[in-house]
Amino acid sequence: MTCDRSDPPAPDGWTAVATLADLTEGALAPVEVAGHRLMLALTGARVSVCQRLCPHEYADLSRGRLDGGRVFCPRHRASFNLVDGASGGGWDLPSLRVYPTEIRGGQVWVEQAAVEADPPLRIVRIAPRV
Ligand code: FES
Repeated sequence: MTCDRSDPPAPDGWTAVATLADLTEGALAPVEVAGHRLMLALTGARVSVCQRLCPHEYADLSRGRLDGGRVFCPRHRASFNLVDGASGGGWDLPSLRVYPTEIRGGQVWVEQAAVEADPPLRIVRIAPRV
């Protein structure tokens, strides 16, 4: 990604993750920030940046679909609100981590300090019973 000199300075503790032109309405875009697997979602004039791994069994939510301000998991179809991360559709799962996001100078910024404050998600595979 490049920034030209007309862009506003980077706010402290924030990092640019995409340009608005990179995003497609209704599409999910994977991105990595400080070792965290995140994704961006453009819905109308709003951009959300949230964790990419489903809280249920860690499916890659960027392979899911967006509908009505929610992301639907591609594996078991749980859905999550892209504003507060709450699960729905009959599921009671931990909320998706949704991070403070701003659009400045055509760039999408996420509060990196908030991302780093969360421990990275580790995928734990449980061996089947024998
Ligand atoms: S892995 Fe996402 S709902 Fe099961």
